[in-house]
Amino acid sequence: MDYLRIQGGRELYGTVSLPGAKNSLLPILAAGILCSRPVTLMNVPNLTDLHSSLDILRTVGWGAEYLDGTVQLFPAKKVKSSIPEKAAGAMRSSVFYMAPLLHRTGKVELPSPGGCRLGERPIDIHLEGLVKMGASAAMENNVLVLRAEKGLTGTCFKLRYPSVGATETLMMAAVLAKGESYLVNVAKEPEVVDLAHFLNRCGAKIRGAGTDSLEITGVPQLEGAVHTLIPDRIVAATIFSAVAAAKGEVKITNVWPVHLAGVLDIYRKMGMKIWQSAPGELMVKMEQRPISPNHLQTGPFPAFCTDASPLVAAALLTGTGETVIEDTVFENRFDCAQEFSKLGACAIKQGRSIRIWGRECFLGGTAHAGDLRGGAALVCAALAAKGESKITGLEYIQRGYGNIQQLLGQLGAEIELCSE
Ligand code: EPZ
Repeated sequence: MDYLRIQGGRELYGTVSLPGAKNSLLPILAAGILCSRPVTLMNVPNLTDLHSSLDILRTVGWGAEYLDGTVQLFPAKKVKSSIPEKAAGAMRSSVFYMAPLLHRTGKVELPSPGGCRLGERPIDIHLEGLVKMGASAAMENNVLVLRAEKGLTGTCFKLRYPSVGATETLMMAAVLAKGESYLVNVAKEPEVVDLAHFLNRCGAKIRGAGTDSLEITGVPQLEGAVHTLIPDRIVAATIFSAVAAAKGEVKITNVWPVHLAGVLDIYRKMGMKIWQSAPGELMVKMEQRPISPNHLQTGPFPAFCTDASPLVAAALLTGTGETVIEDTVFENRFDCAQEFSKLGACAIKQGRSIRIWGRECFLGGTAHAGDLRGGAALVCAALAAKGESKITGLEYIQRGYGNIQQLLGQLGAEIELCSE
């Protein structure tokens, strides 16, 4: 079994460039099935979720190749409608294939989608919108089967919650549906906007991306496009937390500060100095023990994003006082609390919150990643520890970080991939 061995107490210095955003890549790969001509994606990180997605694309008949940060997709001659159980179970993002396959084949069979243990993660909003567009949905032998033999028709639909995934599913459904669609109370995350930009580049007619509502005019077909993914804002937050935990001064390039709304202020109030050194570049500097805020709460963009909450928690393990972070998005975000404690930090999970008592120092230990961002948070916590730590559960971390040991090692972290 692979694990990371981390020697804490090393300050971080140097420059790091952000990879493309995983949460842009995954829906855009699925949207490639909507296109009738080849698609090229640039700035693509080498993640296990990327390869699970390429497996799904190849299984349904697409040509899909990845080389040195670039993905090329070639339309299938004949499209299959069933998603492989192994790939579907490997990640929740298999739900993104529902709308594209409905358009392509009139039917889709989806084994239960996998994903992090962040909570129940239902897909009722996705299905409610698809049914309103004319699809039927039923469970048949523990497989979700959707049908739309007559195709999908545009509709007016208000999402009961601004779900990122449901917004992306319904955007992909509406772009090739007959007529107009008006989607209200949609998600505004940068990755949703990136998907809309990709689809419009392929010939879709989407208006309002990044606002509370979308107006979409269905078109008969989409071409292809060359598209560069936006940078990964959660990897940026990971670097912020690593520097807050280990101290030092780091330059982050290929970053869009506007995407970091909701987290920049949190780190600044901790005492981190953050400034723009040039367009697309941020300097982050931490010389002191983080100042602990009393209470933080996550929410949909542009609020403090849920994915950064375990990372902020890691930064506050050496904070000056007590902090409660409440995740309003996922009910099970803070399973990492007990793992922080195994590193010698002081944190407990309380319902959908984590309560942290900042400590001047803690020694490190052995901890296990149970989800993607919680795993990255354990790595940041180990950087703050005085001694050596061992982090297992790398299969979760590798879903969202191509090479976290290289990402932080290049900045001076003593972090090594080992095998038992
Ligand atoms: C996306 O997940 C991201 N994943 C998540 O990142 C991110 O944490 C999340 O959005 C919130 O920003 C990808 O983009 C691949 P949601 P998603 O639908 O779409 C409930 C990571 O670490 N809900 O906005 O699944 C749901 O249970 C991952 O990169 C319903 O009730 O998130 C949750 O409580 C983790 N019914 C809330 O909405 C639905 O039909 C937000 O979920 C859909 C969602």
